Amino acid sequence: MKKAVIVGASSGIGNALVKIFVENDYKVGITGRRKTELETFKESNPKQISISAFDCTTENNTQKLTELVTKIGGLDLLVLSAGTGDLNKKLEFEKENATNQLNVIAFTEIVDWAFNYFEKQGKGHLVAISSIAGLRGSRMAPAYNASKAYQINYLEGLRQKAMSSKKQIYITDIRPGFVDTDMAKGDGQFWVATKVKAAKQIYGLIKRKKSVGYVTKRWQLISLLLKIVPNRIYKRM
Ligand SMILES: NC(=O)c1ccc[n+]([C@@H]2O[C@H](COP(=O)([O-])OP(=O)(O)OC[C@H]3O[C@@H](n4cnc5c(N)ncnc54)[C@H](OP(=O)(O)O)[C@@H]3O)[C@@H](O)[C@H]2O)c1
Repeated sequence: MKKAVIVGASSGIGNALVKIFVENDYKVGITGRRKTELETFKESNPKQISISAFDCTTENNTQKLTELVTKIGGLDLLVLSAGTGDLNKKLEFEKENATNQLNVIAFTEIVDWAFNYFEKQGKGHLVAISSIAGLRGSRMAPAYNASKAYQINYLEGLRQKAMSSKKQIYITDIRPGFVDTDMAKGDGQFWVATKVKAAKQIYGLIKRKKSVGYVTKRWQLISLLLKIVPNRIYKRM
């Protein structure tokens, strides 16, 4: 049985992914701060699901992950889905800082831990859910977009590192558009996918060991548009 850890699986995309991994015969370790949600989920399949409730911004992530991996008996795949972000019209530092603490600081600690684990083991697959938001800046949520740009760039660095290590380490960067979870904030949302549809597409991208994937697929069109909009126009948007 393959072993996977999903960080940020008490709700949203991570939660929808757990069901797919269980159906595909994985042993899954799941995390989140909300213990009750995790416990309820474990009850649905105690043989295949193990839980660990902790806050990635305050706890020792490497210790918690090491304990969880011991519980499930190894690690082939780690999916980092925990993320946060707020609309921040007034540019309050507390909101920006909370986003950076999880999406930048904890992100770095967790992906570094996973990479080093896989390097030592000689193989493994690291998947992180970044966002299409990481492709350009945003006046509505500056830290969110900037933190997602950091993630995209960091994952690219790890992909290079994996290649030069000559080990079987794969790095997948999932860039969703809008998905119907608590994270989808703000007006003017379009092409909003259900989390089940998003998770199915993400699982397909993981199986194919894709480097980068847009979810749903048509968000690749928006990504191309975002990349070509000239600065003189983008700054007025
Ligand atoms: N939904 C979208 O439209 C969208 C679009 C692009 C990218 N994304 C990205 O997709 C990822 C998953 O988000 P989602 O849409 O599934 O939202 P979600 O339902 O809010 O899920 C976020 C998950 O992260 C966990 N989490 C949040 N803060 C945490 C912390 N400090 N420590 C530990 N766990 C924490 C939450 O669990 P607890 O609350 O129990 O801790 C939850 O399980 C995020 O990285 C987000 O940026 C989402």
